Amino acid sequence: MFANRLRGIEDSIFGLMSALAAEYKAVNLGQGFPDFSGPDWLIEAFNKAMKDGKNQYAPPQGIHSLRKIISDTYLKFYECRIDPENEITITAGATEALFSTILALINPGDEVIIFEPFYDAYYSDIILAGGIPKFVTLHKPNFDFDFEELIIQVTPRTKAIIINNPHNPTGKVYSKNELEFIFETANKHNLYIVSDEVYEFLTYDNLKHISILNIDKHLTRSIMISSAGKTFSMTGWKIGWAIANPKISDAIRKVHQWTTFTVNTPGQHAVAFGFTKLDEYLPIFKEEYQYRRDLIYSELVKTKFTPHKPFGSYFIMVDIPTLEKDDIEIAKELTVDYKVATIPPSVFYRNSDEGKKMLRICFAKTPRTIIEGIENLKKYKA
Ligand SMILES: Cc1ncc(COP(=O)(O)O)c(C=O)c1O
Repeated sequence: MFANRLRGIEDSIFGLMSALAAEYKAVNLGQGFPDFSGPDWLIEAFNKAMKDGKNQYAPPQGIHSLRKIISDTYLKFYECRIDPENEITITAGATEALFSTILALINPGDEVIIFEPFYDAYYSDIILAGGIPKFVTLHKPNFDFDFEELIIQVTPRTKAIIINNPHNPTGKVYSKNELEFIFETANKHNLYIVSDEVYEFLTYDNLKHISILNIDKHLTRSIMISSAGKTFSMTGWKIGWAIANPKISDAIRKVHQWTTFTVNTPGQHAVAFGFTKLDEYLPIFKEEYQYRRDLIYSELVKTKFTPHKPFGSYFIMVDIPTLEKDDIEIAKELTVDYKVATIPPSVFYRNSDEGKKMLRICFAKTPRTIIEGIENLKKYKA
């Protein structure tokens, strides 16, 4: 009855775990978004935009002021010159940027390399485009990848490599060396690089995020994707963007115009305003998240679940203290019996079974939620 392209498309684990968390009134450390809102001044900016009459369709590529300030910001942070007219497209979150990009680049039968554990949208988008996902594992304890493993996955049918930096769910921050190797490999085999950087401003311990824009300064083959959702703690606003050279941007815009056509106008004005305040806002934002990262890590070491310290994003992976049950069983048990919800990460792996021995915990939560959740976890004695 339904299109063949839906074969292999599964329900997202996030919805399933959140429903279970709600049913059993568990503290939800599974859901990958904040349990608080972003700054009031940004909400006021959104209100103001609506009151000022910014309520009709925006241009499909996004309002000019937002594209311009993203371009200025990335010149400053990543020393990359981006033409706001032809190289930035505003999308309905990073999700739509990924979808439009993958649909624009991938033909049926094309292979796309992704690093596992992977953000589940990559897998589904590749399948929807008729492509074939190929996997390279990020190995514990540091979630590094073996350069040889990447090379082995490249075949004459490979079309693109997708990276997520900083990485959900491991908190890995790719090193310059790793990024340069990926870029060299892509150059050698004429591949696209899709770099999802939605956590670009969330790194810890003064670690500097290196964007693909730092590496592929002339945008020869890279598409950088990001979003305002994580940076401003407004994930429900769904304003993202894709940055690529004019030819690739033109292709992305072709899909975008028949997918969403354009993105909500007052939100774009608010985010453009948010970017003008980045210098004052980012230090506070980063300090608050550093506090949350340190808090959850120091509390988790007191549980039976051994944490892997993340250097970016707002997730932390922990090892399960028993070999008798896998991640899905433990995640369900924790939600139902211990009232704390997490995400079982095995669904983000295809090659390795490392995910079966871990859980993903989200710390984009108030300190109170973090403490309540970890107190429940401490009761698990296995
Ligand atoms: C790695 C990654 N990419 C993309 C997204 C989606 O971003 P958006 O909400 O802007 O669509 C998320 C959200 O959790 C994410 O973790």
